[in-house]
Amino acid sequence: MVVIPGGVFTMGTDEPAIQQDGEWPVRKVHVNSFYMDRYEVSNEDFERFVNSTGYVTEAEKFGDSFVFEGMLSEEVKAEIHQAVAAAPWWLPVKGANWKHPEGPDSNISNRMDHPVLHVSWNDAVAFCTWAGKRLPTEAEWEYSCRGGLENRLFPWGNKLQPKGQHYANIWQGVFPTNNTAEDGYKGTAPVTAFPPNGYGLYNIVGNAWEWTADWWAVHHSTEEVHNPKGPSSGTDRVKKGGSYMCHKSYCYRYRCAARSQNTPDSSASNLGFRCAADASPELP
Ligand SMILES: *[C@@H]1O[C@H](CO)[C@@H](O)[C@H](O)[C@H]1NC(C)=O
Ligand SMILES: *[C@@H]1O[C@H](CO)[C@@H](O)[C@H](O)[C@H]1NC(C)=O
Ligand SMILES: *[C@@H]1O[C@H](CO)[C@@H](O)[C@H](O)[C@H]1NC(C)=O
Repeated sequence: MVVIPGGVFTMGTDEPAIQQDGEWPVRKVHVNSFYMDRYEVSNEDFERFVNSTGYVTEAEKFGDSFVFEGMLSEEVKAEIHQAVAAAPWWLPVKGANWKHPEGPDSNISNRMDHPVLHVSWNDAVAFCTWAGKRLPTEAEWEYSCRGGLENRLFPWGNKLQPKGQHYANIWQGVFPTNNTAEDGYKGTAPVTAFPPNGYGLYNIVGNAWEWTADWWAVHHSTEEVHNPKGPSSGTDRVKKGGSYMCHKSYCYRYRCAARSQNTPDSSASNLGFRCAADASPELP
């Protein structure tokens, strides 16, 4: 983990790219020092947890999980006859779970260093608790994402590809039919891929969406606040950072201010997490 030094930052944006997501208005937010995982939780990390606890994820209990159509084999696709109306590229796949990200005919043996997928918010909380950690609040996550920069779009600045370099694992090409994988990855990348941000955090945007601790709401006050923890109740939890599936044309959410949501029992082939922890008392 790395220490994220406490401070005050501008949360959200007054130029929201996605109005309905509640990215605005900007507000001054104070955050105490805390620890943040340098990397997204990997398949290897999650396997260590399952080995030591026997934990069974919600996707394993439900018997299915959502997988992006572009990652599925023809055999698996042929057996599915329902989709999400608003997003027909999401298919519920029987037997899809963290060990079988694209269904029963897939495995993670050559992806142990990739982010764990198909973990619900409840699963993520179970992992972080086992590790002696917790999920970051949305404010902590966004503060971490910004890496010490103020009011920038991305963790490294405002240009998506400084000097033509790729800084995150997102979608290149035409979504959802033609992923040219110019950044080197069609699906997820190792959690150590791409340059870290100013706080030393890797893949804080792109690669896999990351769960945060907060309940979801879209209305924010401009009042200056300290260590906000989000609404006290709700139906969905906030996820941040976007994923390898995000393209500006339909999911311009690989920005620090961007946000989205899912119910706490949801899981999908582009959704993972990282953990945070309170700073020890000797830290400022
Ligand atoms: C989990 O247990 C299996 C079986 O004992 C072992 O092969 C594997 O290396 C363990 N995984 C980790 C990450 O320790
Ligand atoms: C895991 O998947 C790879 C292909 O990605 C395959 O070659 C290998 O045999 C599979 N391993 C197991 C244990 O099924
Ligand atoms: C995908 O996009 C690339 C780059 O624009 C293009 O060269 C290629 O022909 C496209 N492939 C398909 C199947 O449309």
